[in-house]
Amino acid sequence: MQAWVIGNWKQNPATSHSVNTLINDLLTAISAQESTATDSATHCQLMVAPSCIHMAAVSSRLQGSSVMCAAQDISAHSNSTGAYTGDCSAQQVADAGATWTILGHSERRQYHQECHDILVQKLTHALAQNLGIVLCVGETQAQYDAKQTLEVLNTQLTVIKDVLDQQAGEQPGFVEVLAERLIIAYEPVWAIGTGKVPTVSEVSATHHYIKQTISSFSPELAAVSVLYGGSVNAGNADSFAADSMIDGALVGGASLKAADFLAIANAFTCAKG
Ligand code: PGA
Repeated sequence: MQAWVIGNWKQNPATSHSVNTLINDLLTAISAQESTATDSATHCQLMVAPSCIHMAAVSSRLQGSSVMCAAQDISAHSNSTGAYTGDCSAQQVADAGATWTILGHSERRQYHQECHDILVQKLTHALAQNLGIVLCVGETQAQYDAKQTLEVLNTQLTVIKDVLDQQAGEQPGFVEVLAERLIIAYEPVWAIGTGKVPTVSEVSATHHYIKQTISSFSPELAAVSVLYGGSVNAGNADSFAADSMIDGALVGGASLKAADFLAIANAFTCAKG
């Protein structure tokens, strides 16, 4: 199965100049690797999610490379145009070169009150504009301490069930499309940007639960990839990659250094190859 390593750049880098430097570093390192005959593209798909303001420039630089481009979010209000100051729609990010979008990241849930109903709308809009979706789920430190992880995930994952219930009756073949365009990223909130990580066996058991839960919505979703995110770096990527339940990584901080990002990708390429 193909692995995914996705860089979430968040509100970074600060300038177009630094974005260019990061892309240059990434493309130079990838072409050096390709010239030494690795087959990383076969086993590990790379994707980066720049800030919206940099999307068009990044996607145009990545044209012809094996790296795909994702948005970090899309508007909940309309998949196209409208009087929604500050929003970028699914159509606009797709037009700027994104083929995927991250949705439901814990920072969106925390700072922008992104809740169930908003996420149902965003998923629907993304699919209407043919974008793939990286849906983030994960528990807070307090929920982890109270052993509520699975309960929290169960609730967060009902977004998928609700989208299915709304769309599957109206659109024949919808489940198959969703199965191809959906990735789940399990990101414990307490592991994001903290240097703290759950054990591999904890992540493995949680991924098993996520896979079972979404398969219960529809058997077609059994093959959906489940990535781990939260303080993944070049030093710990191998241990996550070695587990058969972990289909890739969503990487924040370490994706801002091309060498670290590619080291993580290589860990998954070696483990899944
Ligand atoms: P981190 O962020 O790798 O810096 O912990 C992960 C994320 O927020 O997706």
